[in-house]
Amino acid sequence: MLGVCYYPEHWPETQWETDARRMRELGISFVRVGEFAWSRLEPQRDTFTFEWLDRALDVLHKAGLKVVLGTPTATPPKWLMDEHPDIAPYDEHGRVRGFGSRRHYSFSSKSWWRESARIVEIIAKRYGTHPAIAGWQTDNEYGCHNTTISWGPEDLKAFRQWLRLRYQTPQAMNEAWGGVFWSMEFNSFDEVELPTGTVTEPNPAQRHDFWRFSSDQVAAYDLMQVEIIRKHSPDRFVTHNFMGFVSDFDHFKVGDNLDLASWDSYPIGFVEKFPFSEEERNRWAETSHPDIAPYHHDLYRAVGKGRFWVMEQQPGPVNWAPWNPVPKPGMVRLWTWEALAHGADVVSYFRWRQAPFAQEQMHAGLNLPGLDEWSVGGLEAKTAGEELAALGALPPGEKAPVAILYDYASHWATAIQPQGKDFRFEELTFRWYEGLRRLGLDVDFVRPGASLDGYRLVVVPCMTHVDEATLSALEKTEAHVLYGPRSGSRDRHFTIPANLPPGPLAALTGNRITQTSSLRPGLADPVEGMVSGVAIRWREYLETTAEVLARFGNGDPALTQQNGHHYLACWPDETLLTATLCLLAKRAGLTTLPLPPQIRLRRRGDLTFAFNYGPTSWSIPVSGNFLIGGPELPPQGVAVWR
Ligand code: GAL
Repeated sequence: MLGVCYYPEHWPETQWETDARRMRELGISFVRVGEFAWSRLEPQRDTFTFEWLDRALDVLHKAGLKVVLGTPTATPPKWLMDEHPDIAPYDEHGRVRGFGSRRHYSFSSKSWWRESARIVEIIAKRYGTHPAIAGWQTDNEYGCHNTTISWGPEDLKAFRQWLRLRYQTPQAMNEAWGGVFWSMEFNSFDEVELPTGTVTEPNPAQRHDFWRFSSDQVAAYDLMQVEIIRKHSPDRFVTHNFMGFVSDFDHFKVGDNLDLASWDSYPIGFVEKFPFSEEERNRWAETSHPDIAPYHHDLYRAVGKGRFWVMEQQPGPVNWAPWNPVPKPGMVRLWTWEALAHGADVVSYFRWRQAPFAQEQMHAGLNLPGLDEWSVGGLEAKTAGEELAALGALPPGEKAPVAILYDYASHWATAIQPQGKDFRFEELTFRWYEGLRRLGLDVDFVRPGASLDGYRLVVVPCMTHVDEATLSALEKTEAHVLYGPRSGSRDRHFTIPANLPPGPLAALTGNRITQTSSLRPGLADPVEGMVSGVAIRWREYLETTAEVLARFGNGDPALTQQNGHHYLACWPDETLLTATLCLLAKRAGLTTLPLPPQIRLRRRGDLTFAFNYGPTSWSIPVSGNFLIGGPELPPQGVAVWR
């Protein structure tokens, strides 16, 4: 099903009925509203002007549309910021990040919690049982614009309290952090400062705790909103719209609060966000890279415990990336189908109509600015809507054969201590995902500690701290497993395990890592054996009792195997990665179909979908009963067959 993000407060009331009618024409069922409307709902403290929203909801409802109502907390209004300056977040240098755009709040401000609870309660009470309301969105894009972590006095207070609860005594904290190093022992929790503004590197365990604390604050704040909504709005779902490539809070923990996850898909904008080479960026500039949207669909399906929406789908050029090209014709339709293929319940476009004013005036909508005229993206959404209606209900998705174990805290750990400048967790994970999908495989993401039952292949690109629940799932699994570099290299307190890395994975892998080497660009180490290629960026030296499947140039083990548990002791280049994933897929008994770089496949129930991100067509090498498209898949084309 399709949806759209709509801002009735941006348009004259006389326009609303036409908008609602044309939404139906487009095949839209869901409309998200309200998430930035605080100044229009409460222009001054305790003065409420809900009537316009009442009327807007009635118009949408009468047209047969269902509404997702956003809480307006991403944009605290000016009067509130003036009343409570302690709401504002601080940057790393201790400067206030003030009013004037959005997300100008700290998750730790007590005033902010009180004010958020107040406005959410008032709105949830008023609209909780409104017949138009199908569900709720908490806030808007936690963490966007680098807002998970704030470095102000309120944050320091809350961090000290978090430490107090966690460690009970300063001695326990000193011990956990290795405070004896550089005389960093504290006599009381009130002596602890935020890990910034230091002469050189602050203590990594402290930084990791501060990151964990900041992540916990997001989840707790979200839960506060969710509980209020649930109290007043029974039988409606609650979601949050997560962002792409934001990893600085644990999305699984926020997902635990929600009925379903949603995320905001700006595939072309994200090409600029990801550390691609310039050559790759140019290649995918007008289509996006074929794994960017799917990677997030699969991740957020896990965050939503199987259920996710795309809450905001890019409908044309955006305004916020360094460059913002028009997508190639066909891409808006392709992205829509792709989200559905990966299991999305709803794909909702951002936004209904391009705004002729303010910050996002260069951002496309489904309609041209100020007019009742479809944009190119609007027409493509219409096509997708017609195709969807013709196809009927899509079958439920199934468990993928392959799982990626994904751990946010490992991103924080490796960002705090990269050891090699280009050791980037998200990049490593993305490349492994890409490698699997280039083999035509469907992939699930799995959180630490979750069951691995039913998977044939489990890959762990990098999990620095392997907790007991995860270890036990790995011990139980019958899948073939592939671990990547730095797995098991730290304990809960950011300490090197006493038995050396891979710590708790030593028994499963038969390995002991005695040295690690980060390789600057240009340095590389060849790998030869059952798989071959080159180690770049990172290489480990290991002693092993396991079978050695491939060796580095000097004969040291590079890929080992013991009872199905494989360990790759480096950051592999594309050749080595592909060869390794092929080998593992074969061992796991999976059928692979090596795909050209621009083609991807995805199954949903008995349907198979194919997507072409490239400039040339592709002959689909299997026969099937085509429901959309045919055996020749044109550039930017979609095919669906049974
Ligand atoms: C999202 C945000 C929207 C809008 C959009 C523009 O990050 O949730 O409010 O700003 O980006 O692409």
